[in-house]
Amino acid sequence: MTIIAQHLNQVKASAISLITERANQLEREGRNIIRLSAGEPDFGTPDHIKIAGVKAIAEGKTQYPPVQGVFELREAICRKLKRDNGITYTPERIIVGCGCKQILFNAMAATLNPGDEVLLPTPYWISYPNMVGINRGVPVFINTLEKNQFKLTPEDLENAITPRTKWLFINSPGNPSGAVYSDAELKALACVLREHPHVWVLSDDIYEFMVYDQAKFCTMAQVAPDMKERILVVNGLSKAYGMTGWRVGYGAGPLELIKTMFKIQSQSTSGTSIISQWAAITALDGDHTFINANNENLKLRRDVVVSMLSDVEGLSCTPPEGAFYCYVSCKGIIGKRTPKGQIIASDLDLSNFLMDECGVAVVHGEAFGLSPYFRISFATKLELLKSGCRMIAEALRQLN
Ligand SMILES: Cc1ncc(COP(=O)(O)O)c(C=O)c1O
Repeated sequence: MTIIAQHLNQVKASAISLITERANQLEREGRNIIRLSAGEPDFGTPDHIKIAGVKAIAEGKTQYPPVQGVFELREAICRKLKRDNGITYTPERIIVGCGCKQILFNAMAATLNPGDEVLLPTPYWISYPNMVGINRGVPVFINTLEKNQFKLTPEDLENAITPRTKWLFINSPGNPSGAVYSDAELKALACVLREHPHVWVLSDDIYEFMVYDQAKFCTMAQVAPDMKERILVVNGLSKAYGMTGWRVGYGAGPLELIKTMFKIQSQSTSGTSIISQWAAITALDGDHTFINANNENLKLRRDVVVSMLSDVEGLSCTPPEGAFYCYVSCKGIIGKRTPKGQIIASDLDLSNFLMDECGVAVVHGEAFGLSPYFRISFATKLELLKSGCRMIAEALRQLN
């Protein structure tokens, strides 16, 4: 007899937190671990945003927040959505939460009946299937192909839709794939969705500003405005503004959905810190030049990782067009034997080997639903990235 709810059996703790735990443990034992596993930029929050947070405290803006988010922040979000994405929302259609994560979770809690299906193209962000499972929905995985740059095709979408489908998740630029859907690709998916009016779109735009080369960010509500009443736009300040610890994310969508997410938030967290919310207004309305500078830096790091790992026998890596991850194929490594005689049978075996034997933390592809791959975050110092890639190359040369 257990007190734990049965449906939670299918829910897993985040693989990344388990990897971080393991890295911490090895470091406590005196090992030096190069961490290429975290989804966190290393730039930190720009000073003008930090100062806005300090000012909010000094001015006594330290009360409980309005559950839906500070009105002035919701106005700033509307300005941002108009300015950057060409989509019009009013503040009552915006909700602010503790990061995108809470917004995504609340959206699932607000909409899923037991057995409702949520379409997740693989590789997906680790939390998606678990958020669906916690809310008694059924994640339905649609495998993408590397040759299609890990993007969902209209045919595969059409084939996956059933009468129980409630949501399609689109995450562009994608974690872990780095895939960026073009305007034409989103329009092609919208054509399929128009035939299935019961399917809603959750557009997770958290990596919006991190795009490289010719890639151009666009979002479904912008390219298919006729579908706006069944789209939830989710975005936040964690990544581009270096504000992971401030916990500010938001959703923009139809009023009924926002009101239900409000209800859930009012009975759970009461919203995110009011101090963070005042700082977020400065972030959204203020200087953005640091984003381009950061992107130049990220692009350089991406190029180094792609080039170093592509030279390793058994690995290959499609250069990501966005976000800050390389999703590296390790197909050529599977089946090889380590110097201790262990067979590398999966990407999990490989990531364990890399952590234990060469001191580099990466995340195995199985955690993102598409194998055999591993994810490297390149939002870390160039010297660390170079050492990490060198150590991976060295360790893999010892396999046979
Ligand atoms: C695809 C994706 N969505 C959402 C989030 C959550 O971001 P936040 O810090 O806003 O909760 C992450 C964080 O890694 C992410 O990679």
